[in-house]
Amino acid sequence: MRIDVVTIFPDYLAPLDLSLIGKARRDGLLDVHVHDLRDFAHDRHRSVDDTPYGGGAGMVMKPQPWAEALQHVGGSGPQGARPRLVVPGPGGMPFTQALAGELAEEPWLTFACGRYEGIDERVYDYAADELGLEVSVVSLGDYVLNGGEVAVLAMVEAVARLLPGVIGNAESLVEESHEDGLLEYPVYTKPAAWESAPGHIREVPPVLLSGDHGAIANWRHQQRLERTAARRPDLLHSSHAGAVLADFDLATATPADVPELLTLSRACWVTEARANGTLDIPPLLETLEEVAAGIAAWTTWTMRAGGRLVGSVRARVAPDDDSLWQIGRLMVAPDLQGRGLGRALLAFGEAQAPPGTAAYWLNTGARSDRNLRIYRKAGYRVRPGVGSIPGTVDLTKPRR
Ligand code: ADE
Repeated sequence: MRIDVVTIFPDYLAPLDLSLIGKARRDGLLDVHVHDLRDFAHDRHRSVDDTPYGGGAGMVMKPQPWAEALQHVGGSGPQGARPRLVVPGPGGMPFTQALAGELAEEPWLTFACGRYEGIDERVYDYAADELGLEVSVVSLGDYVLNGGEVAVLAMVEAVARLLPGVIGNAESLVEESHEDGLLEYPVYTKPAAWESAPGHIREVPPVLLSGDHGAIANWRHQQRLERTAARRPDLLHSSHAGAVLADFDLATATPADVPELLTLSRACWVTEARANGTLDIPPLLETLEEVAAGIAAWTTWTMRAGGRLVGSVRARVAPDDDSLWQIGRLMVAPDLQGRGLGRALLAFGEAQAPPGTAAYWLNTGARSDRNLRIYRKAGYRVRPGVGSIPGTVDLTKPRR
């Protein structure tokens, strides 16, 4: 693969000589050319920027040096070949593993590193219309860097390692984070028992020492699901959520569950009472009769492990609006929190919605920051105004 990078800081790209990427270059798998944009500026100061039309802060990169640089780079291919032009920028499409894979299929990539407030917009049109390049603006993430160079280093590394021969052990590409929508499982090496402090032994999970390859594969898969649920719930879809819950028994609650539901609610809502500075929260105070009434008015699901009630969620068509699926009393036993079970139970609750549902609706303490973060990550947004219960906020999420 051929890669050209146009930048005002060629030295910034020096790391492309190191490690596996440097080796790939020396092995002839990767042909990298770095160009100084200032070589295409012809005034005494070799200037590449100017003030923005329409006013505003900062400077804009001038069109002429960029046009000449891209013509020089893009016009030098054999037999009319043209590179795909990638312009890193915070306003671009997200750079994902899938896009890295797509770019790795291209024989030739050119990266144009913007600085300041960006490149004069006419350069993009020029590259597409007059040079015939496919132009992609690509963002590393929702934050702003000072320029495209760091993004190019990241993208070139992610792309180049997918090229045949760059990574010695191609198998190591298969079970990586993002390859199949899940994060990777935790890894361990020797010693099996590591004394991290005097008398404090940290052991490798015994299954990894068992030699039972089936058990190891199952354990690793479960770890990937739990990690993804805990760290990146946005990546998890309901089939994954089902797998997270696979080790548990899910059932529709009956009156026989009422005493345990009352006990688990109290255990789970103590932290809510603390966060919101009040004990006046229904799930903390409900009587057995009120819990039983809840089971009658909603569909409640219980989640059990070895017979023990460890989680629950309930849902119903909202009484005043049958396009809303109202979800509530999402709880996971305190000792099992932080493993993505709550997120999986929420996805399970969502998946029970009837066909006419337009949106999910739930309610949490106005100061329950942890819950608010979890719900936000799961796609919920706070509805403006006060919640349906004093001291709470309502959140909704459109059904996809
Ligand atoms: N240039 C500035 N910010 C960037 C970002 N987030 N991704 C890619 N290029 C950038």
